[in-house]
Amino acid sequence: MSKIACQDTLITKKRHLSQDYFSLTFSPVSRANRCVPGQFIHLLLPSTDVTFRRAFSVASVSEDGNELEIIFRVVGRGTTLLAGLAKGDRVNILVPLGNRFTIPRKNERVLLIGGGIGFPPMMFLASRLLAKGHPADKIEFFYGGRSKDDILERTRIKKLGVRFHPVTEDGSFGEKGLVTQPVERVISEATGEKMRMYACGPEPMLKAVEALGVKYGIPGEISVEAPMPCGFGVCLGCVLPLKAGGYTRVCTDGPVYPFGEVVL
Ligand SMILES: Cc1cc2nc3c(=O)[nH]c(=O)nc-3n(C[C@H](O)[C@H](O)[C@H](O)COP(=O)(O)OP(=O)(O)OC[C@H]3O[C@@H](n4cnc5c(N)ncnc54)[C@H](O)[C@@H]3O)c2cc1C
Ligand code: FES
Repeated sequence: MSKIACQDTLITKKRHLSQDYFSLTFSPVSRANRCVPGQFIHLLLPSTDVTFRRAFSVASVSEDGNELEIIFRVVGRGTTLLAGLAKGDRVNILVPLGNRFTIPRKNERVLLIGGGIGFPPMMFLASRLLAKGHPADKIEFFYGGRSKDDILERTRIKKLGVRFHPVTEDGSFGEKGLVTQPVERVISEATGEKMRMYACGPEPMLKAVEALGVKYGIPGEISVEAPMPCGFGVCLGCVLPLKAGGYTRVCTDGPVYPFGEVVL
């Protein structure tokens, strides 16, 4: 685990993306340039009635390494308060936390699968892979949501130049259905090519992606969520059972796990 910084930082940019979705950019962030895809920050709200920090995946880091972005959905008290903050407001963050996605070989076709608010770490991974020279036409970006309003940053993802596969359950944008449909289609159409899958999203989607990995013999990793009171391995509030027995602390051992390692 890389060294963790606990620091005050300012909101330098706030974007309302759609309905309950927001993007916040923080600066300065002393360890932003150390952040790698899969890692997250733990954010303390400047409020007395929200005791615990809240975890958010790193969505992007600026080229100069001073700014860090998160993208979040309002689901409860903490995220409501966060959405109410403005440019210039101060928050305290722990950064960077957690492990990372494995970097694939350049000859591998990479299948990035984001469901709902699970897409930010996939977007960060896609841009890092491109920066490392992974061919854009070997990166398939699948993004599933309930309807068009749940598919965020469409222009930004398209601009990456990767193969973009938006999917909505109601068919209001992209293909109609579940995100795993085009994933399976791309897998079955690729002949003899090495592939690797990465997924972040709701549990049923992660289970379905793992099942595809098993069915087609494709290795991959999932990023999981768990309640996260402390964020650095002390409270055991984030433990998940392992298939091989025992437990794992998602905050320090995860949130990224190889297919088949944790009980979902
Ligand atoms: C490693 C990690 C990375 C994460 N990355 C992101 C991210 O990039 N963007 C993001 O929006 N969220 C992310 N989350 C989830 C985020 O931490 C929670 O949404 C947040 O803590 C909720 O705080 P709250 O006070 O608003 O809700 P709470 O008051 O804690 O919960 C309110 C209600 O919402 C439910 N709830 C909590 N989390 C979620 C959720 N994720 N989806 C749906 N319902 C939920 C609770 O069960 C409860 O019923 C991540 C979580 C982890 C562990
Ligand atoms: S959140 Fe406390 S041990 Fe993981």
